[in-house]
Amino acid sequence: MSDDQHSAELLAAARAAAKSAYAPYSGFHVGAALRFADGSVVTGSNFENASYGLSICAETAAVIAANLQGKRSGLVEVAIMGGPLGDDGALAPTAAPVTPCGRCRQVLTELAQLGETDPFVYSGHAGGYLEHRLSVLLPAAFGPANLG
Ligand code: THU
Repeated sequence: MSDDQHSAELLAAARAAAKSAYAPYSGFHVGAALRFADGSVVTGSNFENASYGLSICAETAAVIAANLQGKRSGLVEVAIMGGPLGDDGALAPTAAPVTPCGRCRQVLTELAQLGETDPFVYSGHAGGYLEHRLSVLLPAAFGPANLG
């Protein structure tokens, strides 16, 4: 499989996960997909709260889901897609890329550093995606090693 097919497949998983988002306040449905070194994929979607600031982002939900499956190492790729739902109930991705928020960069970094990886992050948009290393999105991150 080419690198492009690889990222497209993970972005499709993120897009599918966005359909399960609970986003009645923002109307912005987000899906995140994590791929691990063994090829397994874990997804998450945002879960909002009537106290808006307590909303949980898709990336954080995916990290928690991975932990529930005992996955704490080998995070190699992350894909994110977001936007409103169209009349057909499917995600209509935004023109702007969905890069992870600051809190999610920190949460993803915890999982990545536990397994000593620096995953690619694919920030999806209607026309494709932006690709960054997580360490570029959150340079000089505070992680488990900084507690020592
Ligand atoms: N959101 C995510 O789930 N992930 C992101 O990367 C950006 C923002 C959610 C939070 C909130 O539920 C909605 O999108 C609008 O900000």
